[in-house]
Amino acid sequence: MDVERIREDFPILKQTVYGKTLKYLDNAATTQKPKAVIDTITKYYTTQNANIHRGVYHLSEVSTQAYEGVRVDVKNHINANSTKEIIFVRGTTEGINLVAATYGRQNIKPGDEIIISEMEHHSNIVPWQLLCEEKDAKLRIIPMNDDGELLVDEYAKQINEKTKLVALVYISNSLGTINPVTDFIRLAHENNIPVLLDGAQALPHIKVDMQELDCDFFLFSGHKVFGPTGIGVLYAKESFLEQMNPYQGGGDMIRSVKFEKTTYNDLPHKFEAGTPNIAGVIGLGTALKYVAKIGYENIEKYEKELLCYATNAISSLTSVKIIGTAKKKASVISFTIDNVHPHDAGTILDREGIAIRTGHHCTQPVMDRFKVPATSRASMAFYNTKEEIDALVAGIEKVIKLFA
Ligand SMILES: Cc1ncc(COP(=O)(O)O)c(C=O)c1O
Repeated sequence: MDVERIREDFPILKQTVYGKTLKYLDNAATTQKPKAVIDTITKYYTTQNANIHRGVYHLSEVSTQAYEGVRVDVKNHINANSTKEIIFVRGTTEGINLVAATYGRQNIKPGDEIIISEMEHHSNIVPWQLLCEEKDAKLRIIPMNDDGELLVDEYAKQINEKTKLVALVYISNSLGTINPVTDFIRLAHENNIPVLLDGAQALPHIKVDMQELDCDFFLFSGHKVFGPTGIGVLYAKESFLEQMNPYQGGGDMIRSVKFEKTTYNDLPHKFEAGTPNIAGVIGLGTALKYVAKIGYENIEKYEKELLCYATNAISSLTSVKIIGTAKKKASVISFTIDNVHPHDAGTILDREGIAIRTGHHCTQPVMDRFKVPATSRASMAFYNTKEEIDALVAGIEKVIKLFA
């Protein structure tokens, strides 16, 4: 993989910040966009913009074809069975809320239990908490060990006849852990329990395959996979979507409306009320094609090398502790520096042109588990380099010296 060549595709990476070249290491929060994605969106608004599914005129047909074409691309990218299983939403958060508000409301009863884990993003905690409050149901939490690995045995013990759903993160955004989700799914399915996977951090790093995973719901966000913000995908097995009530009412999700009764549109349109983010969908299509062209094997191999390099370098610094040392990890390194608040470290690194995230990363229970108020987090994509890691390490050394 020619990283220098790939970097040419990302105009933003050429920028300087405080006179230093930008070293963007906050990819778990959002990824940068290749020129192909930016150009697709410009082309859409310059030559194709029209509302979809409604117009009988040329532009509307072009726009509709482009939009529905991406549904096919997404289906192929994640190896779903049918385009009926691909629902465009605003992002992972909206997708999880959709499942909670429809499937959840219809199926969770007082006394039922929903299993999540200790390393969930707030987006995969709060919708279930709200549902449990409404339904008088209970959340059960899979604990993890000191390396940030979920305890499969504890999970197995939590499953019982009250368990009605398992909602689990595939790759942790704050620890980098890649969970053995197939084991978790198998165990749930042996007990007839459906599984939702939060795939927000998976798509940028690893190949996902709905047939292999066999999860029942899967979510991802466009902006974390080199696509635009405000667009994401809910995949759900058709049999589930057929049973689920609509999420929002309005245009395009209906077949006919009478004041007495409304009948709903077929899948997937039943879940896409109102004018959608057409440009976002089209940009997402280009982003997925871009990633597929680089190839997940190449991405995984390169990022593994980068993670290994960064882990060795950062862990060799005395007074730095890495939080999240799972055997299977994506290219995310969370760390603390003795006697330095992460926000101070982040501010000093910013002056060196280094963009990392500091805080709780929307995973406050993870911070509680490791008894830290916050961490600094460097999260790498395939366009990052060993030189950028060297700059990060030099920056951390500077921080340590300043606070010594
Ligand atoms: C693991 C995980 N789940 C969910 C989300 C929420 O994604 P979005 O804000 O795009 O809805 C994120 C974003 O940081 C994430 O990392």
